[in-house]
Amino acid sequence: MTGLADWKIVLIDDEEDIRDVLTMALEDAGYEVHSAPDGQTGIRLCQTLSPQIVITDIRMPGIDGLQVLETLKQTDSDVEVIVVTAFGEMNLAIRALQLDASDFITKPISDEALHLALQRARQRYTSKKQLKDYTDLLEKEKAATSQQLLKSIGFQRNLIENSMDGILGCAEGDAVVIYNHSMEQLVGYSKAEVIHRMTLEQFIAPDEAARLKEALVSDRYGGKNRLFLFETYLQDKSGRKVPVQVSAAVLFANGQPSGRVCFFRDLREIRKLEREVADQARILHQDKMMSLGRLAASVVHEINNPLSGILNYLRLMIRIVNRGPLGEKHRAKFKKYLELVENETHRCSRIISSLLTFSRMSPPEFGPVQINELIDRCIILSRHKLELSSIELVTFIETDLPTVMGDFNQLQQCVINLIFNAVDAMPDGGTLTIDSHYHPDTKKVSIAVKDSGLGIAPDDLAHVFEPFFTTKKEGFGVGLGLPTVYGIVEHHNGVVDVSSRQGEGTVFTIQLPVTNVC
Ligand SMILES: Nc1ncnc2c1ncn2[C@@H]1O[C@H](COP(=O)(O)OP(=O)(O)OP(=O)(O)O)[C@@H](O)[C@H]1O
Ligand SMILES: [Mg+2]
Repeated sequence: MTGLADWKIVLIDDEEDIRDVLTMALEDAGYEVHSAPDGQTGIRLCQTLSPQIVITDIRMPGIDGLQVLETLKQTDSDVEVIVVTAFGEMNLAIRALQLDASDFITKPISDEALHLALQRARQRYTSKKQLKDYTDLLEKEKAATSQQLLKSIGFQRNLIENSMDGILGCAEGDAVVIYNHSMEQLVGYSKAEVIHRMTLEQFIAPDEAARLKEALVSDRYGGKNRLFLFETYLQDKSGRKVPVQVSAAVLFANGQPSGRVCFFRDLREIRKLEREVADQARILHQDKMMSLGRLAASVVHEINNPLSGILNYLRLMIRIVNRGPLGEKHRAKFKKYLELVENETHRCSRIISSLLTFSRMSPPEFGPVQINELIDRCIILSRHKLELSSIELVTFIETDLPTVMGDFNQLQQCVINLIFNAVDAMPDGGTLTIDSHYHPDTKKVSIAVKDSGLGIAPDDLAHVFEPFFTTKKEGFGVGLGLPTVYGIVEHHNGVVDVSSRQGEGTVFTIQLPVTNVC
């Protein structure tokens, strides 16, 4: 606002002469002037024109100058009001200043006093306006900054709240001040129960608190005053221990410890999975021990035959030796007996070594497996059982099969389980066919174990691989054979299929990939 023409003045005075003189003087100075003969009209004029400056006489009939001042200030506190008093009315002038008049001039009004008062009013108005604009600007900026601050606080709160890990923050003295949703799920206490009411220690399982404290100050787990992936237990609301992995840090402000923050990862699911894996390993072993028991019985017979053969030949040889020096005729017989003893001993040794391999309780060991050798070993172990059950064995073994990467012992367990099931399915004898093939199109080796037995009822077919599904009489089957086969084959990235017709027989086929052949 530079030129005086931008300044609007409303002049209120009941004396016409004064109004005219002042109007003229002010207009000459360059102001835009509007005048009113009484307070009421003056106020109305101000409401429509919104002048920056009002000059009002104090003593007027009707609404006096002080009332005008008061009314105007109520609607627009920025308006500058100059009051005109008669000489000697100092008390009225003071009252006017108390009501925030910008100045007072006394009658008779001198030009100098008038312009000085107007100059001061203009200055006051301008600085007030600038201050107001500046305050408005500051207000706006403050609002924007607070909004930004609020947004960033909101964002951080969201991060903490939605973290998958439980987050627990403590102020000095260990009172909990941050406690997120995952923490609620871990220990079951609500925020209201915890914030400012509980301490960190109340969440740690009692026998773990000392260990955790010691770990936090030692530099063994992530450094001094820091803790990294430390496994411990929390204690939930109902007193149960919750396994967790904790990372934590002591917080510092001005070099002094000011609190702690802990991040807890729930280990319950992982522990459950670990238990399941352990259970599976236990089932695998259990199945093997049962198969071993059944094998041992038949192997005893299997070894007994060659052993009695060996005994007979040895007795014959002793008799020959006792007769005196060996003649040419006896030497040939002697040699033949020795060869037979060697053969039979070899047979026994093969059976025993197969049984030992099978019973070995070793951790799974992957290596190149010759599928035909595997089948051969299984046949050695079960031959006697087949003979006892009047089962004829037919094999179609493809020579030069590529090797498969696998655990010999586990795969042997699979084939033995399939043979045992086949034998059980042919109580009145039958034919067991074992074949092996390489399928170049799928790059898989298959082992099929087929029987001419009872077959599987269509309703049962979908359940045979389920643990503890058995149709056998109590004491004859537990229902772990096929689930074991399934688990082992899957572990080898293979598949096992079954097809069966009731009354005709069943075939189980294991297919193993040869991509990882070495
Ligand atoms: N070759 C087969 N012919 C007919 N039924 C079979 C054959 N193989 C498996 N089954 C059926 O599948 C069921 C489950 O077999 P699985 O080998 O898992 O357990 P099981 O033989 O009953 O007991 P376990 O093997 O633990 O001693 C058997 O009880 C039987 O009903
Ligand atoms: Mg079985």
